Amino acid sequence: MSDMNTNKTITGFSKLSKRRKIKWIVENFFKDPENVMKELVSYWHNDDKQQEILDGFSENTISNFYMPFGVAPNFIIDGEAMVIPMVIEESSVVAAASSAAKFWMGRGGFKTEIIGTEKIGQVFFKWSGDIVELEKQFDEIKKVLRRDTAAITKNMEARGGGILKIDLINLTDKEDNLYQIRSTFETCDSMGANFINSVLEQFAVTLKEYTADWEHDQAEIVMSILSNYTPNCIVRARVECPIADLGNFGASKLSANEFAEKFATAIKIAEIDPYRATTHNKGIFNGIDAIVLATGNDFRAIEACGHAYASRSGQYSSLSHCSITDGIFKFWLDIPLAVGTVGGLTKLHPIAKRSLELLGSPSAQKLMSIIAVTGLAQNFAAVKSLVTTGIQQGHMKMHLQNILATLDANTDEKTNALTYFADKVVSFNAVRDFISKSRK
Ligand code: MEV
Repeated sequence: MSDMNTNKTITGFSKLSKRRKIKWIVENFFKDPENVMKELVSYWHNDDKQQEILDGFSENTISNFYMPFGVAPNFIIDGEAMVIPMVIEESSVVAAASSAAKFWMGRGGFKTEIIGTEKIGQVFFKWSGDIVELEKQFDEIKKVLRRDTAAITKNMEARGGGILKIDLINLTDKEDNLYQIRSTFETCDSMGANFINSVLEQFAVTLKEYTADWEHDQAEIVMSILSNYTPNCIVRARVECPIADLGNFGASKLSANEFAEKFATAIKIAEIDPYRATTHNKGIFNGIDAIVLATGNDFRAIEACGHAYASRSGQYSSLSHCSITDGIFKFWLDIPLAVGTVGGLTKLHPIAKRSLELLGSPSAQKLMSIIAVTGLAQNFAAVKSLVTTGIQQGHMKMHLQNILATLDANTDEKTNALTYFADKVVSFNAVRDFISKSRK
């Protein structure tokens, strides 16, 4: 029998109260409805007002999904000491960021530069008339587009932003009659999605009206939306020091020179091999997503843009780079980051608000710098492990701790297990056997 004939579909779900929503879910999808109901309710916030705020971020909410909120201290960014807030479910990530921060703390810290802050929006439309006519009129059309959006752009202009440029792009060689209005924006401390989309939708209305009584054809709007690809909203984060200052890499017995060479080769591999580049950049996003999420920004937009940027040459490649010249080791990351410190969740989510406060209530540009540094630190820590001890050493310790927590190990059992597994392969079964033996 298909699910259509069972209780697994429903109309009017969104109109049910939260309790009734849960009731329907647990009764139809779980073997142990009563306990699941209790469990879901136990994760509700005990302050109704706070819960209302959280529910307001989405739809059909039935509970809260907890994620760890960690911090990585000892980041020196452009001379300022900072603690980075990170929301991440993967063990070792916060520890790795913290260790990279500490490593570079004694070597000049991280430096950043904002290379651009431009955002992009697009209105796609069909026009079957003469391109020459459209181009001839476009200067006039631009004036009308600006005039008709003046009410929307007024506040942004007062803050130093607004529409920077409006261009007509002919796409008819790719698709019949297709054109694009591409506009660039400065959105100051906001990510700008609402602002840009409002301006674009007004552009669409204006363009349609402007061409309404043209002899040939009216412009037919296909869609208006911001682009999450912002290759001119870029920040560079970097570290550098004389090779000799890199120190020695104990367990791996690498000298500073050998480490620098091996590290640079690892970065080169990520530049030339897309399979490695994907994992390499994933490591960068371990850091970036964690702080983007902690500060209430849109990590899907940041990821989509970062990967598009990593492919800009036509081949997916590393976002970070390394050079060794005249005895100086340099490691840097260029990354597009369209983020905000006002608007969206930034001031609504109670912990996102605290994250920004922890960072000293930064401007959007400063937040770009801090996020890029977190990505670079994460990447440094991952590649450093890979070319020295391998990552399993650190991961396995965390993995062991997670298994011990799952087995409800007490402090003595944990200490004994950590000593016992220091030179052994960690697996769930092996740890469970060890703990059951010690409990007998
Ligand atoms: C794991 O989450 C991230 C790494 O695989 C990144 C890398 O390989 O560079 C360790």
